[in-house]
Amino acid sequence: MDDSLDAFVGSSTAMRAVHDTIRRVADTDVDVLILGETGTGKELVARAVHELSRRVSGPFVPVDCGAIPENLLESELFGYERGAFTGADRQRQGLLEAASGGTFFLDEIGDLPLVLQAKLLRVLQERKLRRVGGNSEVPIDVRIVAATSRNLDDMVSDRSFREDLFYRINVVRIDLPPLRERGDDLGLLAEFFAEQCSREMQRPVPAISGAAYSSLRRYHWPGNVRELQNVIRRAIALSEDDVIGVDDLPVSLIAAADAANGNPARGFFDLRSEYVSRFEREYFTSLLKRNTGNVKESANEAKLPRGTLYRLLSAHEIDPGDYRGR
Ligand SMILES: Nc1ncnc2c1ncn2[C@@H]1O[C@H](COP(=O)(O)OP(=O)(O)OP(=O)(O)O)[C@@H](O)[C@H]1O
Ligand SMILES: [Mg+2]
Repeated sequence: MDDSLDAFVGSSTAMRAVHDTIRRVADTDVDVLILGETGTGKELVARAVHELSRRVSGPFVPVDCGAIPENLLESELFGYERGAFTGADRQRQGLLEAASGGTFFLDEIGDLPLVLQAKLLRVLQERKLRRVGGNSEVPIDVRIVAATSRNLDDMVSDRSFREDLFYRINVVRIDLPPLRERGDDLGLLAEFFAEQCSREMQRPVPAISGAAYSSLRRYHWPGNVRELQNVIRRAIALSEDDVIGVDDLPVSLIAAADAANGNPARGFFDLRSEYVSRFEREYFTSLLKRNTGNVKESANEAKLPRGTLYRLLSAHEIDPGDYRGR
């Protein structure tokens, strides 16, 4: 029954601790708070908590508090009674009610406006809610899993997050470490995504060259696991052979990785010519793909003299013949 944790790559000490916590709390029904930078896997954890719980046959209802306009958020969460406001021509269930019997995933709880924080606190304490415009209390049976990438401690100090709500949700807390602090998990994740993405794109699974791997290791990954997934996906799409090399990584990543390593950062002109050269390579390969290797049509589309196109193709050792008959 551990399927949802199998999808979870990582054997670093920090991630093993996360697994343990998930296993221990999943079927206890206590509310859970997940903290971590963007892209560290907060939603994946929330789903695992749900899937390993007794509520697994109930719904998993995610809501991103930062994505719903403030004036709609209350009726989205709590629902409303007929006539509660103009346009409320019938009663409507809110998302908290819709999650009954299951798990309610309150994503980006740090973005919840203060007024709604007070209402949410009441729901958490009493497990009852009042629809907008309603008088009666509706009992709800949900487990709340909340997440945020913001620093709630700071928000509590500057009073943009209610202290009482913070203590109420901070009972079981899962801190997801940033990718840069997960050691060898980086390699495991890179290989996992190489396999996953090449399956999706129906490509052979590539190897990752030693040089590419060492750039990946030195980079600081502000976008964490999601950024790694995107870097690998992009590399597979661009790569012309079965190896992910340094050339297939974003120039900005390599520059940052070099700088982090104490290598003198390359200057503007160096980086610019590398960008241009990469742009040309990507541009011409997709141009030829679209025109199935036909140089005349490619030149027309690019509005380039045919001779110029030939010269550029040969500078990049691109053979139009490779794109014919596809
Ligand atoms: N340990 C992991 N193993 C495998 N895939 C992972 C892992 N952690 C995250 N991912 C994948 O990385 C991506 C980002 O994860 P997720 O959406 O859960 O992050 P998040 O913390 O909710 O991000 P955000 O703060 O941007 O909402 C998803 O595609 C997820 O499946
Ligand atoms: Mg998320």
